[in-house]
Amino acid sequence: MQDDLNTRFEAACAVAREAGALARQRFLERPRSQQADMKGPQDFLTATDSEVEELIRSRLLALFPQDSFFGEEGGGSFERDVWVVDPIDGTANFARGIPHFAVSIAFLRDERVEIGVVLDVMHDELYTARRGGGATLNGKPIRVSGLANIRQATVEAGWSARLPSEPYLAMVERLKQTGVNVRRGGSGTLGIVYVADGRIDAYCELHINAWDVLAGLLIVEEAGGWTNDFLAGDGLRRGNPVLACTPELVGPVTAATGIGIGKAAA
Ligand code: IPD
Repeated sequence: MQDDLNTRFEAACAVAREAGALARQRFLERPRSQQADMKGPQDFLTATDSEVEELIRSRLLALFPQDSFFGEEGGGSFERDVWVVDPIDGTANFARGIPHFAVSIAFLRDERVEIGVVLDVMHDELYTARRGGGATLNGKPIRVSGLANIRQATVEAGWSARLPSEPYLAMVERLKQTGVNVRRGGSGTLGIVYVADGRIDAYCELHINAWDVLAGLLIVEEAGGWTNDFLAGDGLRRGNPVLACTPELVGPVTAATGIGIGKAAA
C-alpha cells in the first residue's frame, strides 16, 4: 500500500515539473496583448490550461491506468483512487503576464488526500506532502509561521465572481478590524502553500473548488497548520469555503471569517 503511494508521489513530482516547464514556456512566449477566453466574468481560460492539463492527464493515466482523473478544464470522474488537478491555478495572473501561478496535483484514496504537490512555476518552488510524512519546499522541511499575535498577521482573502461581493467585503472588513494585513494574490493554491511555509499566516475564501485547494491543504496540515474540513458535505464536487492557518490563530480567524466554526482546533 505504502509502496504504491511512494510510486505515485514520485510520479506526481516528476509530472508537476514537466507540466511546469510547459506552462513556463507558454507564459514566456505568450504576447501580453493577447486576449484570453472567458468562462465567465473575471474567470479566465487560456489554451495553456487545457494543454497542460492534457499533459498531466496523459502522463498519470499512462503510469496508473486503473486510477481516475478529474481536471479543472476537462472534468473526469471520482473513483476510489483519483487525481484531482488544476493545471494552472492563477489563470488570470498567467493571462496578464503576472508570474504568480501554480500547477496543483492531489491524489485521493477513499476521498482522503494522500499526496499533495504544488509547483510555483515561475519561481521553481516545488511544495510537496505525503500524509503522515511532513511537508517540504524544494526538498527541505517547512513549517507554518506559528504567529500568535493577530495584529502582526498577514491573511490572504481569496475572491471569485462565483459569489456576490457583499459577503467578501464584509469578511475583509471584519479581518481588518482584528488588525490583520489583508492581501489577495490571485492564486488560491499559492496562497495556501504560502501558509504552509510561513510566508503568510492564513488563507480564507468563501467558496473555492477542490482542484484549487486539495494539494495545498494537505501541505498545510503536514506543515503543522490547521485547516477546515473542506471535504465536508460534497466539497469534492461542489467546492466549499476554505480556511488554512497557523494553529495559534484559529480562534480569531474563524471568528472573523465565519469559516471552520464547529471543527475543533487541532
Ligand atoms: C482561481 C484562483 C483564485 C481564487 C478562485 C479560483 P483559477 O482559480 O485560485 O485565486 O480566488 O476561487 O477559482 O481560475 O485561477 O484556476
